[in-house]
Amino acid sequence: MIVKGNLVDCTEKGTIRIRKKNCIVIEEGIISKICSENELPDSLKNEEIEDYGDSLIIPGLIDMHLHAPQFAFRGLGMDMELLDWLNTYTFPEEAKYKDIEYAKKAYKKFVDALTKSYSTRAIVFATLHTQATILLMDMLEESGLKCFVGKVNMDRNSTDELIETTESSIDSTNKWLEVCESRYQNTKPVITPRFIPSCSDKLMKELGKIRGENYGLQSHLSENPKEIEWVKELCPDATGYLDAYDKRSSLNKSKVPTVMAHCVYSDEKEMELLKERDVYVAHCPQSNICLSSGIAPIRKFLNSGIKVGLGSDIAAGYSLNILNQAVEAIGLSKLYWRYIDKNSKPLELAEAFSMATRIPGSYFGKVGAFEEGFEADMLIIDDGVLNKDIDDLRKRFERFLYLSDECSMKAKYVSGKKIL
Ligand code: GUN
Ligand code: FE
Repeated sequence: MIVKGNLVDCTEKGTIRIRKKNCIVIEEGIISKICSENELPDSLKNEEIEDYGDSLIIPGLIDMHLHAPQFAFRGLGMDMELLDWLNTYTFPEEAKYKDIEYAKKAYKKFVDALTKSYSTRAIVFATLHTQATILLMDMLEESGLKCFVGKVNMDRNSTDELIETTESSIDSTNKWLEVCESRYQNTKPVITPRFIPSCSDKLMKELGKIRGENYGLQSHLSENPKEIEWVKELCPDATGYLDAYDKRSSLNKSKVPTVMAHCVYSDEKEMELLKERDVYVAHCPQSNICLSSGIAPIRKFLNSGIKVGLGSDIAAGYSLNILNQAVEAIGLSKLYWRYIDKNSKPLELAEAFSMATRIPGSYFGKVGAFEEGFEADMLIIDDGVLNKDIDDLRKRFERFLYLSDECSMKAKYVSGKKIL
């Protein structure tokens, strides 16, 4: 297959790369060549070209952190902070997923919306319910998106309607992983302790063992001051929040990395451990604004070589559009520079774009850029409403990044397969 258009992606160095009216040659879902139409080898001269004219073609975006069951109540309770918001809105809503009929209706809306969004891949929290989690994974598999999904574990500090015993949590996680083993091509399980306050030491230790070498782990880290104080009380043995996870679940043992959402209050010591354990940070700027959590030191993470992707954190964030998260990440970094640290220079557009594509793409393999050997995740963008009279592609792309809600998507490909 050959797809042609104006290619915009990030280089390995994190700069924006623009290739005007170029062709992407794809074999079995993988990019085998990028060149102008004239440079196509003779063997491909007779291939039909899917020519998208003057459209922009960008890599599929990646949502590194979101909660599928929370899609139903986006925009509610945004005057609260984390712990009150969880108790008042989140836990009661997630408890409803015990009812598989409710789950079916709600997850259908979520999967439809994610499919229509600019994301081709995501790392998703479900709920603690095994049956509803499998249902969600079935639907995501059907959609053609490529996702990691976690059955959530929680055995303490929740409501009576949304809690497991330690044993049933371990048991159902093992059973769920067994089901997943042979059922999916595109959908993978990831171990998902909700956060330290929801998981006893025993549960965390057992999840570390279950994870072993073959599974990833996702959770929340250093999001809110009261939460962090609580973790200190719960884990007097630990030197910090990430250390509490590490002491219980040995974060460095697996081939599939750990993803930690937020990291708003990670200090130098925690940053060192993030780097040492090769943890991906899922930066969720809109969520951090909505729950008044704070501003994560993203410039410092990037300077220390920590990998940072973006997450919508639905429903603490309200928009599935990862480009909106990119714009808010830039905005927050400007406030951080202005009010908190003059040495942390604001994020550039290219860095925010890289955090939406290439950096989190590496979690999935060779994903998130247009280069030979990369999986062909592509969005075909019609930015005509904005940019009829601009022929500078860099300017067109800049405006698209900020105003993507006003543009439309002509097609969406995941690993070369057209899903929209
Ligand atoms: N920490 C524990 N659970 C959650 C959640 O559902 N959302 C957010 N933003 N933080 C959490
Ligand atoms: Fe979250």
